[in-house]
Amino acid sequence: MGKSKLILDCDVGHDDAIALMVAAKNPALELLGVTAVAGNQVLEKTLPNTLHVCQHLGLETPVYGGMHGPLVRDQITAGDIHGESGLDGPVFEPLSWKKAEDENAVLYLIRTLMASDGDITLVPVAPLTNIAMAMLLEPRIKEKIKEIVLMGGAIGLGNATPAAEFNILADPEAAHVVFTSGVPIVMMGLDLTNQALADLHIIERMEAIGNKAGKLFGDIMRFTRKTQLKNGLTAGPVHDVTAVVYLFAPEVFEVKPAYVEVDLTKGPCYGRTVCDLIGRTGHEPNALVGCGLQLEKFWDIVEETLRLYEE
Ligand code: RIB
Ligand code: CA
Repeated sequence: MGKSKLILDCDVGHDDAIALMVAAKNPALELLGVTAVAGNQVLEKTLPNTLHVCQHLGLETPVYGGMHGPLVRDQITAGDIHGESGLDGPVFEPLSWKKAEDENAVLYLIRTLMASDGDITLVPVAPLTNIAMAMLLEPRIKEKIKEIVLMGGAIGLGNATPAAEFNILADPEAAHVVFTSGVPIVMMGLDLTNQALADLHIIERMEAIGNKAGKLFGDIMRFTRKTQLKNGLTAGPVHDVTAVVYLFAPEVFEVKPAYVEVDLTKGPCYGRTVCDLIGRTGHEPNALVGCGLQLEKFWDIVEETLRLYEE
């Protein structure tokens, strides 16, 4: 079977960085490009963070800067989890050879999808602003997107508010555009991703690989091990990595069909992904929602992939 082609849309961000490391190196994947968006921090930080990770690991994948903020709502960020830089913890050399492409990410998405054979999966692990903007600017891309495998939302409680997960809350209107697009969606929400906790045992296991990727995993996740205590967690979840691993190891996950609607009412449930798993709304399912994860196999996959980094 050929490699799965993907574009990773991210707001680097700690778990985004690890998702990038896996997407760039796993032999089952062909990472065509990386698009950065405002999210965990402003784009002026998430874009250079992306470039730093690429330069540090020698990744040639082209990187594109996209939207600076949400479609409609006021901008929110997640400095309380990811720090002032958006990627506090690891220390990188100054940027030298790795630079962002001149083309805006939204135009890159449209150009690449329209020229494709419909075999590209979009993997947004950030607010859905870039993806929604591309759909609004060129609706024909909807027929060209093979699938959207996203990290965002929740069946149950949120993390940014009791009702809403951060990626959706940061741009609920963009999420509405995506979830009503008709494109096949797999939603890795918090019910699934909070199972993927990088506790000290996992951190030490990845550091023991002995290469730059393993060390970077440790530097990244040691930082969020502390900040995630605010979310009532005992360690940092590698939320975004689950969306990437699903592309080539779906058997590691349990997913269920659901009708997912984004609550746009301006109240305590703003940005909630309301998931109908039992057909109560009468709507046909528009997504597969992640429910279960075979943790041992998941971490084996992550470790095997990080071991592929030569240095
Ligand atoms: O709620 C978790 C999501 O918000 C992850 O994508 C993390 O990187 C942050 O963007
Ligand atoms: Ca993210």
